[in-house]
Amino acid sequence: MAYDRDQATHEFTRWSESYDRSILQWLLFGPSHRALIRRIRTVVEDRPARILDVGCGTGVFASRIRESLPNAKVWGIDLVAEMLTKGAERWRQHAGHIQPAQADSERLPFASGTFDIVTCANSFHHYPHQDRAIAEMHRVLRPGGRLMLIDGYRDGLWGWFIYDVCVAGVEGDVHHASSKRFRELFAQAGLRAIAQKVHRGPAPFLLTEAVATDPAPSSIFPSPHFRGVMGLANREASASAIPRED
Ligand SMILES: C[S@@+](CC[C@H](N)C(=O)[O-])C[C@H]1O[C@@H](n2cnc3c(N)ncnc32)[C@H](O)[C@@H]1O
Repeated sequence: MAYDRDQATHEFTRWSESYDRSILQWLLFGPSHRALIRRIRTVVEDRPARILDVGCGTGVFASRIRESLPNAKVWGIDLVAEMLTKGAERWRQHAGHIQPAQADSERLPFASGTFDIVTCANSFHHYPHQDRAIAEMHRVLRPGGRLMLIDGYRDGLWGWFIYDVCVAGVEGDVHHASSKRFRELFAQAGLRAIAQKVHRGPAPFLLTEAVATDPAPSSIFPSPHFRGVMGLANREASASAIPRED
């Protein structure tokens, strides 16, 4: 059976308890975060930037962005309420600088052209309609903004074994796209200047990066639609629009 949102919700609701202590933090997530932060720093330097992290989980990466780029404002969305709830202390620590919300990568609750950078780390293989997720990430970028996406690199024999055999054996029918497929998805969504870099190691990963075109496609959302999690006791927290600062 194809991996869907219910399976993702089930998997990460169960995993949320031990997620921050997983060995994958050391093997894969930490190194991939460092690679992304290096890229963001190169692009943004010290300028203020609005950054959206899609599939933010417990907020480890969002808080790392914030710590290394003090002028950045970060939004994070995740499908699974329990993952966001586990990050409560991080959200509190960075209140006013990181804004988490529960949302699906295929229906981002933001106006078109909102962000300078959209990141997605170690989450994309869970998305049932990867083309829709990329189109959404592109839509919320301002023209000239950048999408930076990291996921497992499964093209070589080792990558295939790690991701298509071991990870799929544990997670089910998730889908790690090949590097060629990533290029196709980015190009179909209208992104340009697509570049890729493989990071080798025990768990190899691939960074695919591209620039948003002008004009961004129009919003599928008639109005901002946002389930905030700062009031963690109230998962149905009231709608809050993303402020435009320009
Ligand atoms: C392996 S974790 C990665 C978390 C974080 N990005 C990191 O690198 O530490 C994958 C995350 O993707 C989220 N996720 C899965 N499907 C999603 C979807 N359709 N929309 C948004 N988030 C999703 C999961 O809930 C989980 O928190």
